[in-house]
Amino acid sequence: MWGIIATWRMAFDGVTVASQLLKEGIAVGDAIELAIRLIEDNPLYKSVGYGGLPNIQGTVQLDAAYMDGDTYQIGSVAGISDVKNPISVAKQLSKERFNSFLVGEGARDYAVLHGFDIQNMLTDRAKSEWEKRLKEVQKNKLNPYDGHDTVGMVGLDVSGSMATGTSSSGLFMKQAGRIGDSPLSGSGFYVDSDIGGATATGLGEDLMKGCLSYEIVRLMKDGYSPQAACNQAVYDFADRLTKRNETAGAFSLIAMNRHGEWGVATNVEFAFVVATEKQKPTVYVATPTKDKQTTIEKVTEEWLEQQRKHATID
Ligand code: GLY
Repeated sequence: MWGIIATWRMAFDGVTVASQLLKEGIAVGDAIELAIRLIEDNPLYKSVGYGGLPNIQGTVQLDAAYMDGDTYQIGSVAGISDVKNPISVAKQLSKERFNSFLVGEGARDYAVLHGFDIQNMLTDRAKSEWEKRLKEVQKNKLNPYDGHDTVGMVGLDVSGSMATGTSSSGLFMKQAGRIGDSPLSGSGFYVDSDIGGATATGLGEDLMKGCLSYEIVRLMKDGYSPQAACNQAVYDFADRLTKRNETAGAFSLIAMNRHGEWGVATNVEFAFVVATEKQKPTVYVATPTKDKQTTIEKVTEEWLEQQRKHATID
């Protein structure tokens, strides 16, 4: 059995390529790295890699992580600039015994030292969105922050190994040096090949409060299906957070277990992509129900067409 699940519609092409390779027997870590690189390289995606929206100073600072579910080895970068593929740096760091989580200049220096591609990650489009938002925020004294769309993936290969990866430009207009959940083990991602894995997208500040990726894996270890684990972890935490703070940011979690079964839970409308040995790459939309379950529907052709238009026009 093999399988891969990923956050957001933007992951569709990457998941399609990765699923073909997983079918042919590629190692899951390589499949995930390749799939995330495709998203990082696409300038149309505003929340990951090249074309990602910058921080308040106009600098693109990226976060990424990789975890190997066989060894628990983790590599993370946070607030890294000018590096074309943060996921590849994170994967390389996961092989280090020490210094496996690097931030800012240290992360960039490591990338340079290890021969990773260096490039300016700010596109003209991202720069003009930043200029526009800066003016609006200054003029209207608005809260500058929108929701956020990290790419996260969990995969299983034919040998039974599992891995997870994340990549994100973080919150648009974030303060310089702000780091989200995506590079943080337990919050943005977690995987154990004997159990399964989970990964998150949404408001990092709130995701960190619940360590939801780890919580979902822990529940799967206790026998929950991926769907039951996602429902339990996400809706319970959203309730507790709302009771204590009167608000909860948007967040969505996806999970896959070692049998290739998958699940999702979210407190907003959320698109994700799945491919398994039994199922060709498919985009779904999940929505929460009042009774703390998740409605999951395949997207329609019209929905996909809207997304295509949005990606090219916007
Ligand atoms: N989930 C990504 C972030 O908050 O930075």
